[in-house]
Amino acid sequence: MSVRGQFSSKLGFVLAAAGSAVGLGNIWGFPTQVASNGGAAFVLVYLILTFLLAYPILMAELVIGRYSQSNMVNALQGISQGPVSKLSGKLSGYWALTVVCLILSFYSIVAGWMLAYALASITDLLGLEQTSLWLTAFSTPRNLIFCFIFSLLTVGIVHKGVSDGIEKWSARLMPLLLILLISLIIFVATLDGAALGWEVYVIPDFAKILHSDLLISALGQAFFSLSLGVGTMLIYGSYVSKKENIVTLGAQVTLVDIGIAILAGMLIIPAMYVAQHNGVTIFTEAGELINGDRLIFTVIPELFTAMGDLGNVISFVFFSLMAIAAVTSSISMLEVPVAYTVENSSQPRSRVTWLIGAIIVLISTSIVFNFELLFGAVISFTTQYSQPLLGLVLSLFAGWVWRRDSILSELKLGCPEIEHSLFWKIWPSYVRFVCPVIILVMFYHSVFN
Ligand code: PHE
Repeated sequence: MSVRGQFSSKLGFVLAAAGSAVGLGNIWGFPTQVASNGGAAFVLVYLILTFLLAYPILMAELVIGRYSQSNMVNALQGISQGPVSKLSGKLSGYWALTVVCLILSFYSIVAGWMLAYALASITDLLGLEQTSLWLTAFSTPRNLIFCFIFSLLTVGIVHKGVSDGIEKWSARLMPLLLILLISLIIFVATLDGAALGWEVYVIPDFAKILHSDLLISALGQAFFSLSLGVGTMLIYGSYVSKKENIVTLGAQVTLVDIGIAILAGMLIIPAMYVAQHNGVTIFTEAGELINGDRLIFTVIPELFTAMGDLGNVISFVFFSLMAIAAVTSSISMLEVPVAYTVENSSQPRSRVTWLIGAIIVLISTSIVFNFELLFGAVISFTTQYSQPLLGLVLSLFAGWVWRRDSILSELKLGCPEIEHSLFWKIWPSYVRFVCPVIILVMFYHSVFN
């Protein structure tokens, strides 16, 4: 078999790329950010940034990937002409590799919590109260064990390769998630306290919109949620057949990603106010979120406790689906360093996968042991700063480094009619001028405010 796999169908790509995009970023990250950054104001800024910035850069990543048929390090060098841009391409590629490994290392910890909570619903059903308590209490051993189990799952799927592993899993599991989310939203909306949550979620407080914390968080969230900047989408783009219309595919992935995030907010934000109504403390007196990273683990179980055994069953399904959504993202992260190593060495895919998996588990372990110090720091370094800056790099490569005729002919493959579209008229200059300027201005604003 050749090293380079390919998605077996268009739907396969959309599901796998949407599977990468939809994950803890939507269901854990997004609602938490909404709750800590003033509700609807954050939602609005996030939506604007996704359309204005994240989608155009997603397109750059996909097009570069499909054209180069390789990983980010080789791809950025491949579209460069001079030695300086080749070197910057290589360095940016390495930066992306590092960032994606760091993201995976904190991601596996949170995904491990999902597994622990799923298991706790079963032990609860079986009457094993002590075990459930252990599973749901924050502790180093628990965090470590479940992070390890989750990492094993990720490695197990990735070592099988593209269409066997990644595509099959995404296609099976994504639709199930959607059904459960919608049912839970309807259920929660009927509970006391939910109305206040809906108000916070849909009515923006415009005074908060230009706050620099909100802007930079929304920017990071938009990039994190679409898996941008770190080479994931570039790799997935390289697996798309040249016969496909890549512009529409990218738009579909973006819409699915936004859709799931918005739905997750419709569940978690009202649920948060239901919990508060029931006496759970969510905010400090100063209005700050308590343990933001654990918000959904406080709020969701609270919903189910009153429902007895049925609650345990739903809670099991909910947390299992979260873990599954996380797996379809984590496999796309691990694919980045794996594809790079496989393409640049003679090592077999499965050995490379296990080795890199082991390195990432070591990083996760250091984070677990130094949780207060490292967890938040790694998240902001990777998602708030590195991802948007790598997005800037990608837009510079697509807009300035890559030859214009070559990018245009790659875009046209699979959809010659694109020449008559608005996208065709706007996008090439847009990634060249507008995207870099918006990112730079936002960074300036956040650093100097
Ligand atoms: N987009 C994923 C999520 O929302 C996270 C991710 C980031 C995946 C970077 C791949 C690369 O959970």
